[in-house]
Amino acid sequence: MPLRLSLVVLVVLSIRGAVPAQAAEPKIRTGSTLVAKQGMVVTVSEPASRVGAEILHQGGNAVDAAVASAFALAVTWPEAGNIGGGGFMLVKPVEGPPVLVDYREVAPLAAGRDTFVSDTTALSHRAVGVPGTVRGLALAHEKFGKLPWKALVQPSVKLAKDGFPVSVALAKSINRVLGTSKNFEELRRVYGKPSGGVWQAGDTMKLPDLAATLEILAEQGPDAFYTGPIAKALVAEMREGKGLIVAEDLANYSAKLREPQHGTFRGHHIYSSSPPAGGIVLIEMLNILEQFDLKKYGRWSPETLHVMAEASRRAYCDRARYLADPQFVTIPERLATKEYAQELAKTIDLKQATRSASLAPEIPLGPEGASTTHFSVIDKDGMAVANTYTLEESFGSRVVVRGSGFILNNEMGDFNWQPGKTTRGGQIGTEPNIVAPGKRMLSSQTPTMVFAPGENGKNGEPGRILLITGSPGGRTIINTVTCVVMNVLEFDLPARAAVDAPRQHQQWFPDSLTLESGLHRDHPELAKALQGLGHRVTSPTNNTQGDAHTIWINPKTGEYHGIADQRREGVAASW
Ligand code: DON
Repeated sequence: MPLRLSLVVLVVLSIRGAVPAQAAEPKIRTGSTLVAKQGMVVTVSEPASRVGAEILHQGGNAVDAAVASAFALAVTWPEAGNIGGGGFMLVKPVEGPPVLVDYREVAPLAAGRDTFVSDTTALSHRAVGVPGTVRGLALAHEKFGKLPWKALVQPSVKLAKDGFPVSVALAKSINRVLGTSKNFEELRRVYGKPSGGVWQAGDTMKLPDLAATLEILAEQGPDAFYTGPIAKALVAEMREGKGLIVAEDLANYSAKLREPQHGTFRGHHIYSSSPPAGGIVLIEMLNILEQFDLKKYGRWSPETLHVMAEASRRAYCDRARYLADPQFVTIPERLATKEYAQELAKTIDLKQATRSASLAPEIPLGPEGASTTHFSVIDKDGMAVANTYTLEESFGSRVVVRGSGFILNNEMGDFNWQPGKTTRGGQIGTEPNIVAPGKRMLSSQTPTMVFAPGENGKNGEPGRILLITGSPGGRTIINTVTCVVMNVLEFDLPARAAVDAPRQHQQWFPDSLTLESGLHRDHPELAKALQGLGHRVTSPTNNTQGDAHTIWINPKTGEYHGIADQRREGVAASW
């Protein structure tokens, strides 16, 4: 082929993405903290971060990388990475304001108000919501992606087929679930170590059934999951295990493009996930916190921790009162307003903790009777993605679709199962989030971006991007994101320190304040002072809160700082 012609062919193919623009073997760099200008991917799992960085290097944009990393995490981080779950992807296109892709699961048509009143476990086929991940990733790709779909799914096929090295965190995660999954034979068959015994860091894990399923997705596209062979296998699994999902549920599922939740904090623009997700609670809290001069007290003062806990208490109470799928309930607009925050701020007593029960006397309190993963991506043009997705609990329902190698969520557990039963222990039975067919369950997922006070504030364009963050951790997610955002915006902590810093959590009920172990270690006087103000101070299960894989963008140099949270040994990747 003459040189000119071959150049033309190469250019055309590159534009279509069929041939990587820079086909040379990329020298991927990885680390817990990484600085680069040309692109960054930060996830909980090294192979998945690497896949995203390779896609960027090949000329893919941030959404391409996010889709590829999401599929890779479904292989390499099975407790939460998934194709059988759902989540929320916040995208900042190169131009224009951010957009939210809502791919939350929905209740099957057979589920209703009283379906779960007598259920005692969410580890069952019944607790599986109609999965949204594949439609969500496909919608993001269709709207914003550049490379072909197949190129984004193939890396995960390869990981599952050829195998990948087990990390310390993965070994721990899998050994823990296998140890308590006697009744989940397919999970044990698929994830058990073929030679027997427990997984060790450095072992190679291969997932041939999942490789075959991903191959079908790569070849046939997302419909394979909703109306094709994967749907068939899923429905058969449901029939066998007495689950609720039928073919019509899958065929009906659609992911949605939503306007994200928007707010400001001292002029900075905050974009996050709108209902049914957690961003509105984040905005309500930040609005309350803006009413106080917390800088004056200092980050590690009892006053700051107290005010943050009181803001959480009020916003989480409103969450229980009002929040659910906006298609089914009307969410009061005032929740995210500054005026409302001013009213709430006035009810905070600096000398004493409010009792949670006093905030919502109208919610009757009965007698007493968490895995997700977040990743952040940015490309050379400034397109950014904050993606949080989940199976709900670690390994979801623990149901693996027989022969297909993928795990199903147990997201139905995020609905209020027992209408009217709200307890001091934290069970919520309020009306908005009661089960209904086709309804999305309320979520705490809070993928978030922060932008500078905007030189481009008009025309819906926020200012320059400063921070991309989010976290797992069930209801703690919103407080984790609040901590990271406050650490950067209010307390000027360097990004690494902002992610490392110990976190706190208050969620209305239980009426307690949870402090990460680092806080007890580094500031032992604080717990005592907070008890003195009337808080019941506790520690989180496993002593840690969240896993916030974050990117900070240096406003002076424009450099991308990948800050992988080390609570589960996350990894930033670039080249
Ligand atoms: O969407 C939600 O709010 C929950 N299903 C998230 C669960 C979770 O983060 C558990 N993980 N660590």
